[in-house]
Amino acid sequence: MAKSFSTMENSNPSPAPHILSVMDPARRTVLKLGMGGLSAALFGCVTSPDASAPVQRMRPGFKAVPIGTGDRFFVPEGYIATAIAAWGEPVGVLGSMPAWKPDATNSAADQALQMGMHHDGIHFYPLEGSTRGLLVMNHEYVDDGLLHADGLKTWTVEKVRKSQAAHGIAVIEVERTADGSWRMVRPSRFARRITATTPLSIGGPGAGHPMMRTAADPAGRTVLGTFNNCASGMTPWGTYLSGEENFRGYFAAGTQLDAHQRRWGLTPKAFFRWAEFDDRFDAVKNPNEPNRFGWVVEVDPMDPNSTPVKRTALGRAAHEGAWVAVTRDGRAVVYSGEDARNEYIYKFASRDRIKPAGGGLTAAQANRELLDHGTLYVARFDADGTGRWLPLVHGQGPLTAANGFADQGEVVIKARQASDALGATRMDRPEWMAIDPIARTIYCTLTNNADRGRPGQPGADAANPRNGNTHGHIIRWDEGGDFDATQFRWNHLVLAGDPAQARAEAKGNILGDLFGCPDGIAFDARGMLWIQTDAHATQMNKGEFANIGNNQMLACDLPTGEMRRFLTGPTNCEITGMTMTPDGRTMFVNVQHPGETPSDRSDPADPGKFSKWPDYAPGSRPRSATVVIRRRDGGVVGT
Ligand code: FEO
Ligand code: CA
Ligand code: CA
Repeated sequence: MAKSFSTMENSNPSPAPHILSVMDPARRTVLKLGMGGLSAALFGCVTSPDASAPVQRMRPGFKAVPIGTGDRFFVPEGYIATAIAAWGEPVGVLGSMPAWKPDATNSAADQALQMGMHHDGIHFYPLEGSTRGLLVMNHEYVDDGLLHADGLKTWTVEKVRKSQAAHGIAVIEVERTADGSWRMVRPSRFARRITATTPLSIGGPGAGHPMMRTAADPAGRTVLGTFNNCASGMTPWGTYLSGEENFRGYFAAGTQLDAHQRRWGLTPKAFFRWAEFDDRFDAVKNPNEPNRFGWVVEVDPMDPNSTPVKRTALGRAAHEGAWVAVTRDGRAVVYSGEDARNEYIYKFASRDRIKPAGGGLTAAQANRELLDHGTLYVARFDADGTGRWLPLVHGQGPLTAANGFADQGEVVIKARQASDALGATRMDRPEWMAIDPIARTIYCTLTNNADRGRPGQPGADAANPRNGNTHGHIIRWDEGGDFDATQFRWNHLVLAGDPAQARAEAKGNILGDLFGCPDGIAFDARGMLWIQTDAHATQMNKGEFANIGNNQMLACDLPTGEMRRFLTGPTNCEITGMTMTPDGRTMFVNVQHPGETPSDRSDPADPGKFSKWPDYAPGSRPRSATVVIRRRDGGVVGT
């Protein structure tokens, strides 16, 4: 998200000497080469090393759309886009399908059975090839001005419950109809909502740890809920990974913050007003409750009765999401970043190999402890274009009891402090990651960091080369063709920006269509790279973003580096999450917070002031929704 409370977070500002302080001149030259040259020089491999990967990379074949400035969703000529599964639609639980009320008078109990707000990461899980399947998606956060009929005018326990019910994750069933369009299947035995009050279990070294225990859960093994679920990953064993991102905005920690609370960005008051009626979010009364958030959550969407698990071995962070690669010997490597200014990039390598389904177990069941055992690393990007994965392992290096890490549980709960101690590289807000199925290169969007280079803040370094980085960039690395190395080579795919801007740091080096604040990034199964943007309502269509338009999605033609704009969203929305059917003929993309206000809270007297998407009805409230995109000729999307 680009929202105000998230962009405020900067809990690691020390400008103390770090591994990299300035970009060296040699590096500068490399950066100027642009994507094509770099690709050939450092990532020349374009043949598939993996039997399941495509041998030939598909290339963009659509006609680019112009920048978007109005309240409409635009796709290229020859394409159709239709919104489904908007906020408030019943998900389809048998016998419990409360109808959407456009005036926002649905109760908290209704909301717990309906699509949440602020759709984000999304994945398609096939049930019948490319014609029927599950869509699993995150509902990152809410606009309490839109969610309640009278907004925040009064604040009640019922509003807290509705706000909690509009967060979390949704599992819905969808199918293609005879005319090629898609609809929700309701009821569906798979339909499910996971909210901020659903019981989840804890796996890995954090389970049962003293820092995870609370009065309500003295064992430290069961947490109520998940929230601020941002990006998502799909595992090869059929589960869904969801990142708990800006959890700090939900906890009121009082005025006496200790060092741990300060390092995790907790504040005296919370942005979301749950603590006023739910003591769980009063961190003065329940100081360990915040430690139970900031994890990667694993969900088995095929089993609606399964309990989601917080995978603590992957480390605690303001997790954007989590993405899985498979090593040549069959183990899982999970890449993840922490979207906060000056925070870190992580990877986790599983100890065990991924097991196939069998013996009466699905693959999800056979691998239910896979992500609880392995090694966690944090990234250091060196100025010479190489990098190191530094192990976050208790007892190694500075991660000892004497330095405040009693055991591995404390290392993962205090992953930020552990990474500080190891000298990891402070990044410009790591967002989504994507793993190239052909070249086995890993990409990460770094959405922006306007603070970089300000007094008292870290200055530009090789990996984060611009002070006042308003537009963001995309970094990528190669671990020698596999994913379990402890060294890598890295470079930048692109620095976003607009060459017409006067400020050198805002110009960027984009070849093709302009964009800023890259956030979502994903490869499709045909090796095409897609990039989505999340500039905030306070930035869009003005100042240094005047020529960039509404948030958008582009395809990157990797062989040339050309960026080609594929779609643009309605006013003040974010474009986030992309998934496709296996045949590539249907794409699902989420539109989050159409009509976002500068304060992230709409005026309930005029909730559609900035956008009426997608209903455009008189007085209608804007609604996040999933957009189904197809080619009119039924062809593969993007080609
Ligand atoms: Fe939820 Fe970092 O975007
Ligand atoms: Ca974002
Ligand atoms: Ca995001």
